[in-house]
Amino acid sequence: DWTAGSIIQEQVERIRAQIGDKKVICGLSGGVDSAVAAALVQEAVGDQLICVFVDHGLLRQGERTQVERDFVAVTGVRLVTVDAREQFLTALAGVSEPEQKRKIIGREFIRSFEQAQLELVREAQDGDGEEVRFLVQGTLYPDVVESGGGSGTANIKSHHNVGGLPDDLRFELVEPLRTLFKDEVRAIGRELGLPEEIVGRQPFPGPGLGIRIIGEVTQERLDLLREADAIVRVELTEAGLDQEIWQCPVVLLADVRSVGVQGDGRTYGHPIVLRPVSSEDAMTADWTRVPYGVLARISNRITNEVEGVNRVVLDVTSKPPGTIEWE
Ligand code: XMP
Repeated sequence: DWTAGSIIQEQVERIRAQIGDKKVICGLSGGVDSAVAAALVQEAVGDQLICVFVDHGLLRQGERTQVERDFVAVTGVRLVTVDAREQFLTALAGVSEPEQKRKIIGREFIRSFEQAQLELVREAQDGDGEEVRFLVQGTLYPDVVESGGGSGTANIKSHHNVGGLPDDLRFELVEPLRTLFKDEVRAIGRELGLPEEIVGRQPFPGPGLGIRIIGEVTQERLDLLREADAIVRVELTEAGLDQEIWQCPVVLLADVRSVGVQGDGRTYGHPIVLRPVSSEDAMTADWTRVPYGVLARISNRITNEVEGVNRVVLDVTSKPPGTIEWE
C-alpha cells in the first residue's frame, strides 16, 4: 500500500538524515533509474548534489546528448561529464568472459567517479574545500536480488552497480531505490516532474553495449552494434511497440561468422541477435511476438545498412531459462 508521494517523502527524509549538509555525487547513465535517483536526492538536499556523467564509450546513439542537454534542461542540476572512452577500451582489451567484463566495467566506473571527485575537491579548495563522500546509485530491488544481495539467492550476474564494486570503495553509498521495482521508480519520476522521454525509457544496463558484444569489445564492434541498435529502436518505435516491449537488447555475435551472399559476392559476416522481451519487473520475461512485417523491415535495414552484418536472428527464449541480456 504505497503512493509515489509517500515514498518520496519517506526517501527524502532518509536521504537528509544520511547526508546532512555534506556534498553528494551522483552518476547519471542516461537511464531511468539514475535519473530518478538523482532527482530524489536533489529534492532532498538541493545543490549539495553534483551529477557526474561518465561517457564510457559503451553508450547507444544519442545518449550523451540526452543527458547533457535534456536532463539538465529539466532539472537544472549541476553536471560534470567525464570522457572515459579510451580508459574503458584499454581496460577491456582482450577480455571476453562476461563476469570479467562486468567487473572491469564496474571498477572503471568507480575510478572515473573518483577522478571526478578529485577534480571537484581541487576546484572547491578555493571555497570550502569540502570533500564529496557520498555516492548515489540507482540500484533497484531486482538488481540487489540478482547480484546475490537477497536472502539465499545465488549470484546470477554481477550488476555493475552492486557486485562490481571494489573493496576499497572510497564512497558511502546512497541508494534510495533499493527497495523498489521499476514501475514504482517510474511513478516517482513522474511525481517529481521528470518528462516522459526520461521516465518512460526502456531499461538499458549500466555496462551498456559492452555486455551486448559476445566476444572482445573493440571500437569497430561498438560502432557496428550502435548502428544496428539505432535501427532497431527507430523501427520498433515507429511500429508502435514501445509499450508492449519491455526492452529489446540488440546483440552482436562478434566471434561467430557465417557465409552470406550480397550483391554478387560472397560475404563472411557477423550475426545480429534481436532479443525483444515483455516483462513486468525483469525478474521473469517472455519473448515478444513482434509482427513479421516489422522483423522483416529491421532485418532488411540492418543487413543493407550495417557493414559486416549479413544475418539477423531472433531470440525466442523466455526468462527463465534465458536471462534478458546475453551476458
Ligand atoms: P538479466 O539479463 O539479468 O537482466 O535478465 C535483468 C534486467 O537488468 C538489466 N541489467 C542491468 N542493469 N546494471 C544495470 O543497471 C547491470 O549490470 C545490468 N545487467 C542487466 C537488464 O537490461 C534487464 O533489464
